[in-house]
Amino acid sequence: MGIIEKMRLDGKVAYVTGGAGGIGKSIATALAEAGAKVAIVDLEGGKAQEVADEIAQATGSQTLAVQTDVTDADSVNQMIETIVQAFGRIDIAFNNAGITMNIPAEEMSPEDWHKVIDLDLNGVFLTSQAAGRVMLEQGNGSIINTASMSGSIVNVPQPQASYNAAKAGVKHLSKSLAVEWADRGVRVNTISPGYIGTDLIFEAEELQPLIKKWEEITPQGRLGKPEELQGIALYLASDASSFATGADFIIDGGYTAI
Ligand SMILES: NC(=O)c1ccc[n+]([C@@H]2O[C@H](COP(=O)([O-])OP(=O)(O)OC[C@H]3O[C@@H](n4cnc5c(N)ncnc54)[C@H](O)[C@@H]3O)[C@@H](O)[C@H]2O)c1
Repeated sequence: MGIIEKMRLDGKVAYVTGGAGGIGKSIATALAEAGAKVAIVDLEGGKAQEVADEIAQATGSQTLAVQTDVTDADSVNQMIETIVQAFGRIDIAFNNAGITMNIPAEEMSPEDWHKVIDLDLNGVFLTSQAAGRVMLEQGNGSIINTASMSGSIVNVPQPQASYNAAKAGVKHLSKSLAVEWADRGVRVNTISPGYIGTDLIFEAEELQPLIKKWEEITPQGRLGKPEELQGIALYLASDASSFATGADFIIDGGYTAI
């Protein structure tokens, strides 16, 4: 089979958490374009439905919206059951929902600390575990977790200790799962974006003065676009990456190279 054919996802079933958000929607669109049936999983059920309808119309692939809170184990198990009932299996799990909070460490409340860790790290564990159980039973599957370059470096000048710690945790959690499941057909990798221009960035008022600074210190001199993560997403979702597991793929316009 040629490499282009290997990157097709016809007959495969995928889900994307945070699928109604900037990066999630772009990745879900890429998976559907490659032929996968895709479930859009998000806390915002209405938005998830809109995105699912839009992608189905644009690509002709079957889609499904599943309102889910990935920090809640019951909600996650329900989500997995709904997808398996609708589409029969799960081949590609994209655990991508996440938030950031810029608060100086000495001022951070325990509640704010837990909010970030619960979503960005615990949510990735709960979804990886639930999808992993289905995939281990099937004997194959690809789990892709969205980490961040913040799991490798400390961003400046904004204070975001909880986010950085959670994303470093996502990378090592994913490596740990990759090793546990490597001989049972389940691969686990992380994508670590640099600064990507999405709602997460543009809707946070306090970030506006920072955007110029980030552009200056990124070697390519700009923020990335969500669609610039589609290539690595397709590679990791498909059989093109059959020997890749336990790896982190940094896509950051050169940020971490300096
Ligand atoms: N934008 C960037 O520059 C950047 C850089 C590196 C990593 N990331 C990571 O990429 C991922 C996606 O970020 P984005 O920029 O698309 O953000 P976004 O805010 O556009 O989307 C996040 C989505 O997650 C959903 N969500 C929030 N809480 C949830 C919950 N409990 N359960 C289910 N869904 C929930 C939101 O409703 C939203 O649709 C995040 O993990 C983020 O940390 C983003």
